[in-house]
Amino acid sequence: MEKIILTGDRPTGRLHLGHYVGSLRRRVELQNSGEFDKIFIMIADAQALTDNADNPEKVRQNIIQVALDYLSAGLDPSKVNICIQSLIPQLTELTFYYMNLVTVQRLQRNPTVKQEIKLRGFSETDDGSDNKAGTPVGFFCYPISQAADITAFKATTVPVGEDQEPMLEQCREIVRKFNSVYGPTLVEPDILLPDNAACMRLPGTDGKAKMSKSLGNCIYLSDSEEEVTRKVKGMFTDPGHLQVCDPGKVEGNPVFTYLDAFCKPGHFDKFGSCFVGKKSSFEFHSLDEVKAQYRAGGLGDMMIKNFLAAILNDTLEPMRQRRAELEKDLPAVWGILRKGTEEAVKVASATLADVRKSMRIDYFNDSELTGLK
Ligand code: TRP
Repeated sequence: MEKIILTGDRPTGRLHLGHYVGSLRRRVELQNSGEFDKIFIMIADAQALTDNADNPEKVRQNIIQVALDYLSAGLDPSKVNICIQSLIPQLTELTFYYMNLVTVQRLQRNPTVKQEIKLRGFSETDDGSDNKAGTPVGFFCYPISQAADITAFKATTVPVGEDQEPMLEQCREIVRKFNSVYGPTLVEPDILLPDNAACMRLPGTDGKAKMSKSLGNCIYLSDSEEEVTRKVKGMFTDPGHLQVCDPGKVEGNPVFTYLDAFCKPGHFDKFGSCFVGKKSSFEFHSLDEVKAQYRAGGLGDMMIKNFLAAILNDTLEPMRQRRAELEKDLPAVWGILRKGTEEAVKVASATLADVRKSMRIDYFNDSELTGLK
């Protein structure tokens, strides 16, 4: 069986470090591993519209931003197809058939849907006024549309963050249901989660569980060096670490979570000077040594923040340079999206044909059904 990757993002904002460690970095590795026959990366604009129906302009602007983030992070259009969801109409048709295989009650139990409804403040009772609006039907059903995204490409592997686990489970259920009702047609995908706990869910700079645009606690891939440094300096640390000499907590301290996600052995040679100051001076060779010293006391937050800012800027600088190049020719970026979308339409059309055939609703193509020649 072919090994096929499908994954994607909603274009509701620029991508941030959480996206990078949660999936983008992995995608680039997977692309370069040569292990996969096809890779599709979807900019899920139709899904973004499920809670932004009044603002298609925002979604359109972010399509190009997300594409720039992808390409500057190292996705290579000669190896992956970057495609735009709403321009693949086959997905909508698949969604419509899958809707009959899922119950309202099952969707209501989907933990991600539940949580996102709460987060967006959709009301349980809709009194018809704007300030007490219920959940849009399209939003409620987006897990079904996401199952269409995945199955349309017969994806075997879906690299995503852990918040997407319930989506994958729902997708697998739809596949099993479809295949048992209509005969083996669709492929059950496997989820591929980040391999390191810090990358599973990178906290915001304020220490809240997740980086999220609405919380204003993100560091974006496209942030300038100054912005990154400023945001790192303002990061939440251990509130009990009041004086440099106090012992500090590493667990739940986002500065250390970021170091867990980004720090590599080479960074100690390159940026070790961050730990040399007027009052104290340390020589570290590993993150474990830094943590031990922080726990013991004597290591100030500023030194660690300087080290972290240096690492983040070192990681982001090549992306900034690629982005600046790409921004000089945006039509070329749209051209990459058009090419990827055309390829996606071909594959999704073939799957839709299989689906209609299995359901025996391809009336005009099956003379057995109609007697048509
Ligand atoms: N729901 C995903 C997110 O919010 C985006 C997405 C849409 C997706 N379609 C997908 C992810 C298909 C994986 C596979 O990040």
